[in-house]
Amino acid sequence: MFSDNFWNNLIYSSIRKPMYLPPSAWLDHIPFAFAAINFLKPRKIVELGTHHGASFLSFCQAVQENDLKSSVYAVDTWQGDEHAGFYDDSVFQSLKAIVNKNYFSFAHLLRMTFDEALPYFSNGEVDLLHIDGLHTYEAVKHDFDSWLPKISEQGVVLLHDTEVRERNFGVWRLMQEVSSSFKTFNFRHGYGLGIVIVGKNVPSDFLLLCEALEQPVFYQLFERLGYSIRKELELLQLIEEKEQLKIKFELEINNLKQSYSFKIGRLITWPIRKIRNAIS
Ligand SMILES: C[S@@+](CC[C@H](N)C(=O)[O-])C[C@H]1O[C@@H](n2cnc3c(N)ncnc32)[C@H](O)[C@@H]1O
Repeated sequence: MFSDNFWNNLIYSSIRKPMYLPPSAWLDHIPFAFAAINFLKPRKIVELGTHHGASFLSFCQAVQENDLKSSVYAVDTWQGDEHAGFYDDSVFQSLKAIVNKNYFSFAHLLRMTFDEALPYFSNGEVDLLHIDGLHTYEAVKHDFDSWLPKISEQGVVLLHDTEVRERNFGVWRLMQEVSSSFKTFNFRHGYGLGIVIVGKNVPSDFLLLCEALEQPVFYQLFERLGYSIRKELELLQLIEEKEQLKIKFELEINNLKQSYSFKIGRLITWPIRKIRNAIS
């Protein structure tokens, strides 16, 4: 049923290791990002909502490693929003440094609102659109509707946070609505990632992959791979915390050794230490 090409693409996506692991709620979906790029071979990729760049950098890595001629665009104000929280300019500067170092020839950071970016794209030219901005129903519906005309005949839309039902998130509602007009698939783990097949000529292997994901064995493959990536970041964070604590304790011990009371204490206990050394 599945071609050699299908298996090759699937195996490729399963064994990739992300080069960058920024903090993100998207980490569980990185293996699928590799697969999506590999199966779709999209010419133009647009992401609405990038923040530190977990999803964007995995798209860029897959484009580079597959030697594709794609252009990848990240649209974000890099100021934050009510759901992601607000943050300072260092987030944008760090991402810009990574992009300039690794992906400058095909990756573009558009620092503006999603609406402001619309005129920079022609209708029907975006093969992969990832929507991950503000997650209220009104915001995500506006983003989906306003960008829909930009989607190509081969185009697919990804919606993050389809499983979150708190803090006024409404992506789940949009996902239900679009399911009546388009073929869809929904990952339930990692806060939910919806796949919406918009174009009439989406590559057949990608469609086959979405069908395969209905079977537990394929679904669990992506779930387990995503879980291991998230755990890897948690481990890296723990190692970093341990290093910071070690530096802090060493500093405190040094300060203590320099302190007046420590020196007096050493002086008072000197005879006892002397006797102990003599008898041992
Ligand atoms: C959930 S974060 C993106 C997470 C990212 N995809 C990842 O992999 O971690 C949402 C981002 O969307 C941006 N954002 C929200 N609404 C926006 C809008 N209308 N125009 C531009 N940026 C927006 C915020 O600044 C924030 O950085």
